[in-house]
Amino acid sequence: MQKITDTTFPGELIRAFARAKKIFCFTGAGISKESGLPTYRDLDDGTWRQYDPMTFATYEGFMDNTPLVWNNYISRFRQIAAARPNPGHTALAEMSRLVPQFYVCTQNVDDLHERGGLAGTGHIHGSAANVRCIKCGRRYPTTEELLAEEITESNIPRCKACGGVLRPDIVWFGETVPVDVLEKAAEFAYTCDICMIIGTSMEVSGGYGLLSYAKAGGAVTVDINPNGSAVSRQCDYWLQGSAGNMLPALVEEMKKQNK
Ligand code: OAD
Repeated sequence: MQKITDTTFPGELIRAFARAKKIFCFTGAGISKESGLPTYRDLDDGTWRQYDPMTFATYEGFMDNTPLVWNNYISRFRQIAAARPNPGHTALAEMSRLVPQFYVCTQNVDDLHERGGLAGTGHIHGSAANVRCIKCGRRYPTTEELLAEEITESNIPRCKACGGVLRPDIVWFGETVPVDVLEKAAEFAYTCDICMIIGTSMEVSGGYGLLSYAKAGGAVTVDINPNGSAVSRQCDYWLQGSAGNMLPALVEEMKKQNK
């Protein structure tokens, strides 16, 4: 592992990006932190340091405390709606246009990759954009009306088709991730030239497997994280800085090489 603390990147890394035909990125809450959205585990703002994930991120917690959990998600979804993409998001979108094949699999439920201009993002932990019926599985868009609500026992959101309780369309602990997203991520990880891990602690299982595929497939592996993640030391490069600083600098280097 080579640790890089500023944007003076080694020539070897710049050339790898300039040559790359296929790039896979696995992103987490850290990339949206510079947009003002909290992470889950950081000491200063981690959601799970304030809210018990057993209550706020499990099906059982939701069933036992439905209004409490809904109101928590509504306030987080409002924060997402008010946030704006930051230079990390827009740099990834720009990078996607410089490389023939590019795929971002995000653990984030926000839509800041999309609003930053990136098409086709895979949401492996679901999305704030939708809600889902616990009974029939129908999905509905998260409406402004819902985000304006204060949920009580008497107005719990319900499915228009079957009357079942609606829940956030988010993968909670103990639930399975969407197979189509996982399959595409695995295929990209295994066959990419560069695998970037960006703004994630890599403490949730699943991400580790994708990095192993990338390594087995011979990709150059890069972790972008100011504090380091569980896998920084296993990557070829650890860019020890923020996504909003490192990603635009990488894109600038790629553009220089492409001239
Ligand atoms: P974490 O909160 O676990 O990790 C956030 C990471 O971002 C940390 O490693 C920080 O060091 C890093 N970071 C902070 N600021 C950064 C910046 N400006 N640029 C780059 N990195 C920065 O969040 P995730 O790894 O995304 O699941 O968490 C994974 C999953 O755990 C989430 O999707 C969520 C949670 O339970 C669900 O809610 C389903």
